[in-house]
Parts: sequence; structure tokens; C-alpha cells
Amino acid sequence: MSSKIQSVRGFRDLLPPESERTAALEALARAALARYGFRELRLPTVENHELFVKSTGETTDIVEKEMFAFEDAGGRRLALRPEGTPGAVRAFLQHSLSQGGPACKLYYVGSMFRAERPQAGRYREFEQIGAETLGNPHPAADVESILALKAVFDAAGLEGRVKLRLNNLGCDEDPSCRPGFRARLKEYLSAREAELCESCRRRVGRNPLRALDCKADGPRLAADAPRLEPCAACAAHVGTVSRALSAEGCAHVYPDANLVRGLDYYTRTVFEFTAAGVGAQDALAGGGRYDGLVGSMGGPATPAVGWALGVERTLMAALAADPEGAALRRAMPAEKPDVFVALQGRGDEADAAGMRLLEAVRRAGLRAAGGLFASSLKAQMREANRCGARFVAILGEEELKSGACTLKDMTGGAERRVALDEVAAAARAA
Ligand code: HAM
Repeated sequence: MSSKIQSVRGFRDLLPPESERTAALEALARAALARYGFRELRLPTVENHELFVKSTGETTDIVEKEMFAFEDAGGRRLALRPEGTPGAVRAFLQHSLSQGGPACKLYYVGSMFRAERPQAGRYREFEQIGAETLGNPHPAADVESILALKAVFDAAGLEGRVKLRLNNLGCDEDPSCRPGFRARLKEYLSAREAELCESCRRRVGRNPLRALDCKADGPRLAADAPRLEPCAACAAHVGTVSRALSAEGCAHVYPDANLVRGLDYYTRTVFEFTAAGVGAQDALAGGGRYDGLVGSMGGPATPAVGWALGVERTLMAALAADPEGAALRRAMPAEKPDVFVALQGRGDEADAAGMRLLEAVRRAGLRAAGGLFASSLKAQMREANRCGARFVAILGEEELKSGACTLKDMTGGAERRVALDEVAAAARAA
């Protein structure tokens, strides 16, 4: 039956098996992240609008154009979270998580919301799995974070199929580092103002780096725009990250000068994983170091590094690499029932026996299906076949009297009489 009310553009229903693949990726990610020492943080979907303005950045596309912001009945200005990092930092400060040790390692799984133009791999509600390390200034934290992300991709069957791009965005402490770059870039862009799109023209004064990331102007400017010349400390930091990744056999491109990322808070290391076979939206995950963010949000100076991966895009890439999705399947529930219970007999007693058998098989830890007791035996057998049941337990009038059924092995067709309380054991022994 078709309903007149449809889902909202850019917001999707997740039906099986996509919903099951999503849960499988989440489970594989949780297991991988636990090995790297990350613990789960569950964040609220709604935050104060101001949080994102202050952290994601006032001049980013996300804050300027893509937020689902609204006023609640009490006149508070709120927003659906467009990303998880600001909420994670807010929670870190609000709950004084720095007291738990020198490095706080958290991951989150959940929906994010951005009012972007929907297309394949780009939705208005999408899911991220993100991981943040707060408190560790050493390149070892960047390396661990990136390798944890790679471990998630490997677990999803994407080993060797993703490309890691790495760049250095420098810092604001050394005037010759990012401030110098910003000034040179500003000059360069000002001289070309007439060629820039409207938003870039507006941003030249406030945030010239954003022009390099602009979908319209970025690719054109990338060829001859000035490059960041990192200060010695930033060069050493990202150089160490790059060498350590190589030593771990993690192939990557460094420096990738075109990688500037669309968020304002990054310092030093920035990175993205891309994949082939997923179309235009090929960025599966992105992240970087953000040493200034916690401080700028009113907290004590706390170096940090993290990333988020897009669940939908990662699943698209995993299926492009292996249409069977074997890696994901390992973490998915079994699709085919072990035992299908079909009723031949009629009446209350037969119904009760059928329902009892279904429950007994499930309690024994096997997957049972059936219960279509209003249908003819023929229709029930057809359904048992369609869903690929391993065994069918047929409860006929005669057998029921002696507490037994006919257990049919659907692989070879052999049938035997089995006591009802032994059906699960017989199916398990197969
Ligand atoms: P981001 O690059 O904006 O970074 O998003 C991370 C990933 O989310 C992207 O690589 C992409 O796979 C997915 N994604 C983004 N927008 C959409 C969309 N509209 N539809 C489908 N997937 C999408 C962040 O969000 C940062 N918070 C990452 C981070 C964590 N940096 C430090 N810590």
C-alpha cells in the first residue's frame, strides 16, 4: 500500500539487509576501536547552536549553509549536530574527563545532519563513526588514531582498497607557519578576486584557506596558489607521523597540498581516506589534529586528534570491492533459519505444539521460522524453501499424538521421525 506521506528528501529508511550491514560495520568498528583503547561516548543529537558556530567554525559551509538550526518552544537556539567533534569536546569539558588520565580516548556512533544537496553517497541524515584522542600532543597519538581507522576499514574488507592522503596545516603559534601562509594566500586571492565565487570573495578577509577547499574555486586555485611552509615543529610532527605510517606498511600520500579539509579547527596533521568505485563522494573518512579547539572553547589547553568515517560511504565502498560483502557478513545475523516449523494438524492442540516447538528451538540458540499456521501445508513448505531453511519440522496429526514430528533435511530431502524435545539437538548435530 502506498502512503501519501513519504520520507523527507535526504532522509532515508534503512531496510534489511542494508540495516544489517550497518549494524555489522558498527560491530566491527567497536571491536577494532576497543583493541586500540577507545571507549564509547554517546552524545545527544541536539546541541546549542552556538557550540557549532564556535567550534566547527563560523565561516565553514556547514555552519553557514548546512545546519538544521531551530528555535525550541522556550526560545533557545538549537541545532541537530552536523558532526560529532564539538559535542565530544563539550562533553570532555562538561564532565572534566581530563581527570581520567593523560589521554582520553573516546569513540561515538550516530546520525549527523547536514542540509547538503542529496545525491548518491550524500544524505541529509548520515551516520558517522568517530574517534577522538584528547590530551596527547605526541605524533604517536596521530599514528594510533589513523591506524585505528585503517583497522576499521580492514575489518570491513577494504584492506588495500582505500587511499590515505595526508597533509600539514601548520599552527598559529609560529608567525612564519600558518599566519604567514594565510597572509600570502590572502594577497594571492585578493589579486584574483574577480575570478572567485561569491562565498570565497566574502571569506578572503576572514578565512582565505577555505577557498582552497571550495568546490568551485579550489581545483582551479590548487595549481598555483601559495603553499604552507610549515615551521620546524610542525614539519617534524607530521614528518614523524608520515614515517611511522610507512613503517607500519600503511601506504599514503604526503604531502597532499590540496587537502585542506572543510572544518576550521585543524592544526598540523590532516588526513582523508578515499576509495574507488563509490562515485563523486569518495571521501570515506576525514580527520586531523585540533590542538587549539579545547582551549578556544574555554577549556585548558588540550592537544587533540581524531577522525570520523561515513558509514554509508564505507558500506558502498565495501560492496563495490566485494558484492557479496563477505567481511560484513561475518558480523551479520544468520539469514537462513535452522528449523522451519510447519503444521499439518489443525486445532488448538496442534497450534500450541507448533508454538512450543518454535520457542524451544529458539531457546536452544537456533534460528527458527514458521508459525504460518493459517496456511496450507503446501504453502508452508513453499515458504520453508524460499527462506532457505535447513530443516523443516512437520507436525502431523499422527506424530503429534506421540509427541513427535517429521524432520525433513532440506539439503538432501531425507526425513525421519524425531521427538519434539529433540528437534533442536537433531538440527544442531547436522
Ligand atoms: P567530515 O570530513 O566533515 O569530518 O566528515 C567525515 C565523513 O563523514 C566524511 O568523510 C564522509 O564520509 C561523511 N560525510 C560527511 N557528510 C556527509 C553526507 N552529507 N552524507 C554522507 N556522508 C557524509 C568531520 O565530521 C569531523 N568531525 C571529523 C573529525 C573528528 N575531525 C577530528 N575529529
